[in-house]
Amino acid sequence: MISSELIKQDFPMLSQKMNGNRLVYLDSAATTLKPLAVIQSIRKYYETNTCNVHRSIHSLSEETTIEYESTRDVIQKSLNAMHREEIIFTKGTTESLNLLARSLGDHVLKHEDEILLTELEHHSNIVPWQLCTERTQSNIKVLPINEDGDLNLEKLPTLLSDKTKIVSLSGVSNTLGTINPLKEIIKLIRKHSKAYIIIDAAQMISQTDIDVQDLDCDFLVFSGHKYYGPTGIGVLYGKKDLLEMMPPFHGGGDMINIVTFEKTTYNDLPFKFEAGTPAIASVIALKESFRYVKKLGKKNINEHTQNLFTYLKSELLKIEGLIILGNPKRQAPIVSFVIDGVSNQDLATLMGMDGIAIRTGHHCTQPLMKKLGVTSTARIAISFYNTKEDIILLIAAIKKAKEMLS
Ligand code: ALA
Repeated sequence: MISSELIKQDFPMLSQKMNGNRLVYLDSAATTLKPLAVIQSIRKYYETNTCNVHRSIHSLSEETTIEYESTRDVIQKSLNAMHREEIIFTKGTTESLNLLARSLGDHVLKHEDEILLTELEHHSNIVPWQLCTERTQSNIKVLPINEDGDLNLEKLPTLLSDKTKIVSLSGVSNTLGTINPLKEIIKLIRKHSKAYIIIDAAQMISQTDIDVQDLDCDFLVFSGHKYYGPTGIGVLYGKKDLLEMMPPFHGGGDMINIVTFEKTTYNDLPFKFEAGTPAIASVIALKESFRYVKKLGKKNINEHTQNLFTYLKSELLKIEGLIILGNPKRQAPIVSFVIDGVSNQDLATLMGMDGIAIRTGHHCTQPLMKKLGVTSTARIAISFYNTKEDIILLIAAIKKAKEMLS
């Protein structure tokens, strides 16, 4: 059982006031708050452990390298990756996807080949592929959603062929909360094509346990900051033989073996993809967020957040003129809505004055907005530090803002 009141004590952000009100943070799909263990870990690196990793042999560097590399082990174990060198540190989901578009896309795509995406994708899983199609003269196909916001899986086989070289899709929609049935989808893709399969787990990482071997995806990417960790750090998981086949993304220090002006040979995995001094403090601190979530247990987290979510949706439905977008079969505690005659922007601004943080806008999913027939929505995203009282305050604030604006 989760006690959000106890958990709140681990999140300094939640003890502050916004315009005299306590902060009600319901924007965890944009970024999650960070527990003290993560903050203290970052502080420790800068206060007493500053040094570079993988380079010097003084004991400070040796100790910090061990701390840094042990995050890789923690993540390998958490994702059940077969090899530790299959875990590559990047700046975030966006950089991981750009790396894949360059190093995998440019390498395997030929004229007229196809990349399959879905209507649920975030811009970071669209734009890198568009840039890639321009370089490789390949094409993008899109798997549509149905009215409820679930992927239309009947259409999937018709969009796969020998031409499909890459399928890249999110595990959980950041806008509608749709949890995609990835095992079923991956089986279908494997049955109808030889495409490489990439999972954008930016939202999924905080919602479900992930076992990359059981899923049988080829690549999986996520950001630390959506998992209670620091910003500017992310992960690319890839099957070892595929990462070995792919050329490096960035050139620089640490990713090389021998450099001459004529030719450079590259370092082994994972370092081949980790050029330059990495985000050392952030990598070390990311381990703390994995530990924190493991201690709570994703099953307990889901039980708590789904209870709050059921209550939230039942209360939203009582508000006249409020329309919830999508009704997926399985939904993470993320919901988008609009209110007749009320600007989302004005709504969120007024609520912000009461200390309530929600997100409005297109959520970096403009193609999905077009499909839904809107240009923006208001979005609420619940996490384990939220309480029933948060939802009561939120609903009261929506009603108050609606009164003022309509
Ligand atoms: N991708 C983030 C969101 O959904 C920024 O809000």
